[in-house]
Amino acid sequence: MSSTIALIIIGVAVLFILGIKLLSSPKTARTGNLIAAAGMLIALLILHNTHGEYVWSQGWSFNYTLIVIGTIVGLIIGAVGAYSVKMTSMPQMVALFNGLGGGAAALVASLEFIKGAKGVVIAGIALPVPEISTFIAASMLFATLIGSLSFSGSIIAYLKLEGKFEKPMTFPGQNILNGLILLVILGLCGWLTFNATNDHATAAFILLFSLALFFGVAMVMPIGGADMPVVISLLNSFTGLAVAADGFAINNLAMVVAGTLVGSSGTLLTLLMCKAMNRPVTNVLFGAFGSSGGSQAAAGGVAGTVKPIQADEVALLLTYAQRVVIVPGYGMAVAQAQHSVRELSDELGKRGVEVQFAIHPVAGRMPGHMNVLLAEANVPYDQLVEMEAINPSMDRVDVCLVIGANDVVNPAAREEKTSPIYGMPIIEADRCKTVIVMKRSMAAGFAGIENHLFYKDNTRMLFGDAKASLNALVAQVKAG
Ligand code: TAP
Repeated sequence: MSSTIALIIIGVAVLFILGIKLLSSPKTARTGNLIAAAGMLIALLILHNTHGEYVWSQGWSFNYTLIVIGTIVGLIIGAVGAYSVKMTSMPQMVALFNGLGGGAAALVASLEFIKGAKGVVIAGIALPVPEISTFIAASMLFATLIGSLSFSGSIIAYLKLEGKFEKPMTFPGQNILNGLILLVILGLCGWLTFNATNDHATAAFILLFSLALFFGVAMVMPIGGADMPVVISLLNSFTGLAVAADGFAINNLAMVVAGTLVGSSGTLLTLLMCKAMNRPVTNVLFGAFGSSGGSQAAAGGVAGTVKPIQADEVALLLTYAQRVVIVPGYGMAVAQAQHSVRELSDELGKRGVEVQFAIHPVAGRMPGHMNVLLAEANVPYDQLVEMEAINPSMDRVDVCLVIGANDVVNPAAREEKTSPIYGMPIIEADRCKTVIVMKRSMAAGFAGIENHLFYKDNTRMLFGDAKASLNALVAQVKAG
């Protein structure tokens, strides 16, 4: 590889890292995205072959025509998909795109492996069989295994998010069966690494490919639908690792860098989400969380009574408050109430009320779900406060408006040792002077458990669709 290409790749790596860094705040996320995309464009333009020769310098060929056609088709599908997808369907789109990335990485590695093992004949001409070292063979097999299980797993994750499977699919001995399949896969990988040119290598490779696809399905089927964002983030890190292994296999440093960055950031995001839910990754992968159903709360056992309230009374409380904290959750996303909530916040702001939004790291169903929705509604970034920053001052809040949030404000996480969410950090809404919970019924949230907050003395329930209730509040505040 020429030193110019090596230098450009270092520049590309810097652009990727800067892009990811800027993604950490909603204020700079758009710029970060553009910077990382520019890095990817440069990486495409300096495409080089396995000998490190800059491919465009060797004259045009049919293959380049195919690359250009593929790029244009991909650009159109990506742009149309991104523009037309609803904000609530964003996790599905990420799952699909991630699956396609994993599948592509697996195909690249498979082709290289079969080329190395058997040689490839195109249009009657046998291509020279390249020598593959043990390390390169292992990289190709790793990319094939991880890429194909990421592909099939992501497709199942997509279908689960679309609500195609109601409950996690579990049966006795499932983890043992999955463990056995994994052992066979690892055995095949080990054998193929040292026997890439054996007569049975192609058959063993096809078996490995098929088992890896099946393992992706078997791994994701027992996991509950609402855990899919964690699974997608994990599969995303797998795709990154598969791309990095491809980079080793075809001697492409830009792929090694990009793949490693995706692999490590995906792994970190997975761990952060699990930490925010106080659940180990193993509980997400093997715990079948949600298999007992989550639509109805467990009956009884909670002290206190539920006290409903009407919109006009809430409007009065809000206009006389000095400090209001809004806690948005999954229900705000379902009701698409982000614009109405901004309107309410603006109205209260005009009347001198200090309004802040308390953001829980796993509120909603995908990382940054609330930030994205509130940014779409142009809520100023400085009004968004992270859970750790707002909790210490919650007892100085006059009214806490909980909009479609449930688990992320459930005091059981602090008070009840036997609760499935015990230990999960929560937004301590119950410490505010008055809490108004806006939801449609007494139904449970994702964790499927009762929320003690709804029965506290300082809590009032404003029942109804979040958007309709917010619009009623805006009208009352304006009239008041
Ligand atoms: P949830 O606990 O899931 O509660 C959402 C509430 O919204 C429900 O209780 C529901 O009650 C209400 N709701 C639904 N539609 C509504 C509408 N149109 N209007 C008003 N309310 C509506 O949500 P949360 O507090 O945001 O917690 C998120 C949960 O998801 C956590 O348990 C978290 O661990 C889990 N999770 C999150 C992620 C990420 S990355 N965010 C990933 C995996 C799992 P009604 O039906 O009575 O209206």
